Amino acid sequence: MAVDPYLLPLVLFAVVAVVGYFVFASFLFGAGYQPTPRGAALEMLRLAELTPRDTLYDLGAGTGALIFRAVRIYRVRAVGVEVEPIRFLVLRIRRALAPDPSRIVLHWGNLFALDFAEASVVATFLWPGAMDRLRPRLEASLRPGARVVSHCHAIPGWTPEVHDARTDVYLYRWPEAGRADGAATTDGS
Ligand SMILES: C[S@@+](CC[C@H](N)C(=O)[O-])C[C@H]1O[C@@H](n2cnc3c(N)ncnc32)[C@H](O)[C@@H]1O
Repeated sequence: MAVDPYLLPLVLFAVVAVVGYFVFASFLFGAGYQPTPRGAALEMLRLAELTPRDTLYDLGAGTGALIFRAVRIYRVRAVGVEVEPIRFLVLRIRRALAPDPSRIVLHWGNLFALDFAEASVVATFLWPGAMDRLRPRLEASLRPGARVVSHCHAIPGWTPEVHDARTDVYLYRWPEAGRADGAATTDGS
């Protein structure tokens, strides 16, 4: 049986296009896709000192590496925001199968359209340009005492309370020491 010589290149092209879309399309919004590695996710949750009274926002929830662990281990209320529709569908399926779905709220949309006043903990694993854009939004809406944990990228101009070099996780507490009124600095730092 003769095989069409264009078949293999077409299949390869389709696979590369689908994987490329899945990983990189959301880059336009603030980050591509890479699940938070297990060790880093556990360290983020540990450093955030979660209790069942906390509301954790994961900004760019991916397929849920962080939020489902947080609910399972710490019994927090988790809010996941995700812009990419296939990952959002995966999140919805995982929530439907979760033992305690009432603790999980999902938003399909752009994290930059949200305010974070309800969050006691915010988690991020975004790329540096998005961290720049996120900072003023955090400063405008975080409540005093809120913690921010970030994997891989620091919040520009903020001083971390902890940086775990092994997992590359940063912990911040708002307002930072030295900004006791919670106001953003005016010098852009
Ligand atoms: C590096 S992944 C992190 C995934 C997730 N936090 C985890 O624990 O595995 C970044 C995610 O942020 C999403 N994302 C990027 N920009 C976004 C935006 N502006 N609004 C909502 N989600 C965004 C991407 O689609 C991607 O799923």
